Amino acid sequence: MSQLDAFRYDGKRVLVVGGATGMGAAAAELAREAGAEVVVMDFAEIKMPGVRAIRVNLAERESIDAAIDECGGTVHAVFSCAGVADGTPGIERINFVGHRHLIDRLLAKKMLGRGAAICFISSAAGLGWEANLPLLQELLDISDFDAAARWFQDAGKADYFHTKQAMCAYVSRQAFPLLKQGIRINAICPGPTDTPLAQANKDMWLGFGSDYRAEVGIEPFTPKEQAYPLLFLCSDAAAAISGITLLSDAGYLSSGITGSYPNATMIANFLLGRNPA
Ligand SMILES: NC(=O)c1ccc[n+]([C@@H]2O[C@H](COP(=O)([O-])OP(=O)(O)OC[C@H]3O[C@@H](n4cnc5c(N)ncnc54)[C@H](O)[C@@H]3O)[C@@H](O)[C@H]2O)c1
Repeated sequence: MSQLDAFRYDGKRVLVVGGATGMGAAAAELAREAGAEVVVMDFAEIKMPGVRAIRVNLAERESIDAAIDECGGTVHAVFSCAGVADGTPGIERINFVGHRHLIDRLLAKKMLGRGAAICFISSAAGLGWEANLPLLQELLDISDFDAAARWFQDAGKADYFHTKQAMCAYVSRQAFPLLKQGIRINAICPGPTDTPLAQANKDMWLGFGSDYRAEVGIEPFTPKEQAYPLLFLCSDAAAAISGITLLSDAGYLSSGITGSYPNATMIANFLLGRNPA
């Protein structure tokens, strides 16, 4: 026994939602190496060896219910990674409503117990949730799958920006009620990361912050570099951490907020919903 075992996943069962490619796949691989039994759910074909593969479409409640039934058993860590870009029909269900329903279902079936942890992949796009909290609370108060999806449509907010804000607000709001059940919940908000989704929206997703990266001498992140903080946040080593949306962008937005990298100040103020003085 080492004190560092708290970072490991021996004897744990991990569920990665959206683990066919990108950061989810990297998290699944790391979790397996860290000792976990891994279940991967995805809409796309899951080719990774050594994991249990379950097909799910987060846009459909019945598909989520069936996937959870197929998974069964106890789950110690959930990585909610799946996501799609603007222009994908059902974005409000795939990026938020479906993930939330999946967690509700795990809880209802008592598959998450004391000591379990959840970590979402949100986005810098979601960081301005505090400025929008009254509106987002309206959504979060709607527990029904179809009604919540309808809220996004009716409010004209079925887009990437607002689904990620909803996710960040949800993570923050659920820290208290979930911890009463012994469960932690967090999110990471990655900077540009080289994945199939980012490549498909290359100019916008990988162009973001490229001036900063050139100046500090870094490349877009690899999926594994984002999987490490995901794994940490759901490990026992992060027992003191819940309700946070961790910005994993190598300091880009912090440099904008403080003005140490002034080129990022305008975008940081916009994304964080802050008005410059
Ligand atoms: N890549 C970036 O630069 C970046 C930056 C910030 C946030 N993100 C977020 O990271 C998360 C992971 O994305 P990624 O960049 O690793 O891309 P990715 O496309 O490799 O991973 C997304 C996964 O979601 C799955 N998925 C899509 N629709 C689904 C559905 N209806 N049901 C179930 N699964 C579905 C895909 O099949 C894929 O495996 C997303 O939520 C994305 O919004 C990405």
